[in-house]
Amino acid sequence: MILTNVNIHHVRNLEAQQLEFTNGVNLILGENGSGKSSILESIHLLGYGRSFRSHHTRPLIKFGQTTLVVSADIRSDQDDSYRFGYQKSSNGKTLVRLNQEDVTFLEMIRFFPIQIIHPESFEQVYSGAAPRRKILDWGMFHVEPSFGLLWAKYQKVLKQRNSALKRTIIHAEICCWDEMLIALGNQIELIRRKWVASLLSEIALAIEQLLPNLSSEISITYQAGWSEEERLEEALARSLQRDLHLGATQVGPHRADLVMAYREISIEKVLSRGQQKLIMIALFMAQARWLKENTGKKSVLLIDDVISELDNINIAKLLAFLEAQQQQVLITAVDEKGLNFADKVGDLRRFSIENGRVCRV
Ligand SMILES: Nc1ncnc2c1ncn2[C@@H]1O[C@H](COP(=O)(O)OP(=O)(O)O)[C@@H](O)[C@H]1O
Ligand SMILES: [Mg+2]
Repeated sequence: MILTNVNIHHVRNLEAQQLEFTNGVNLILGENGSGKSSILESIHLLGYGRSFRSHHTRPLIKFGQTTLVVSADIRSDQDDSYRFGYQKSSNGKTLVRLNQEDVTFLEMIRFFPIQIIHPESFEQVYSGAAPRRKILDWGMFHVEPSFGLLWAKYQKVLKQRNSALKRTIIHAEICCWDEMLIALGNQIELIRRKWVASLLSEIALAIEQLLPNLSSEISITYQAGWSEEERLEEALARSLQRDLHLGATQVGPHRADLVMAYREISIEKVLSRGQQKLIMIALFMAQARWLKENTGKKSVLLIDDVISELDNINIAKLLAFLEAQQQQVLITAVDEKGLNFADKVGDLRRFSIENGRVCRV
């Protein structure tokens, strides 16, 4: 999918804005508070039906207004054109339309794969396993049609088992969930195992391209969420006392992780923030490439405010890397450095935004 044209009405400080994007790198520059993140937020609403900054609707809608609308022309990978629309009102009413027809959120997410990297996601990825697992599962969701439903079912059973763990010490009441949990858990693990090796090699390649001096010492490995030497049922049985003590199931695919290390030490403990940011961008970009390779689907990568801690050399390197991917990217930055080196990038379109007004530079 390629976003060709986006119309935004009444999202935060954006009144009525139209943007025509290029297939390659789109750089949105402006001061703090000018509306850069709001543009990415609008596109995120289209792709996910929710913001990456707020769970509530009210703050998204421009003050004094009652409804926000985001619509876009999207070109599919087969070169067909689609018109996509999202409307949300302060009374909670939401409309999602694809070529004038109502569609569900799930259809929308499947149709238009996007990924977002923003400052909080950066902090999260290096602070816990759950955000890393989400990144992994974004790919699984898009390559395996059954994955989303399996995951939802697994979560339901897990919730039941965890609530039994808090409520009772009677093993039979807890373990009655195990059969379903194990069956679903094994299916999830099977899907991840099928795909994870090719994903990891794509990630390694992207890291090599973006951080050539460090890449040989960086390792990214997949952990299933329980010991490889055991079957899930054995791991659950062994963990039962601990589960009872903690009131939550400690093993299973919900504890899977992508472990990222430099010289066998956790990346966040040794590498600089700039280096960590580059690794994260490599990770997301690798996912996009991998998705394209395995399904033919192109996704859009949104990068909000992540390049502020990079020096000029690294920004130039990053932009060149992004351009070489033949992947649509929307990236925001404060224009403090002039970002003149951006001129060296061929397929780059520059936008400037001031007080919610965007123009192409
Ligand atoms: N609901 C709203 N209505 C109008 N303006 C808003 C609303 N919510 C936030 N703003 C304003 O929108 C501006 C744009 O914010 P943001 O997109 O985060 O800017 P940037 O990413 O460029 O720093 C801010 O000045 C903020 O005060
Ligand atoms: Mg911002």
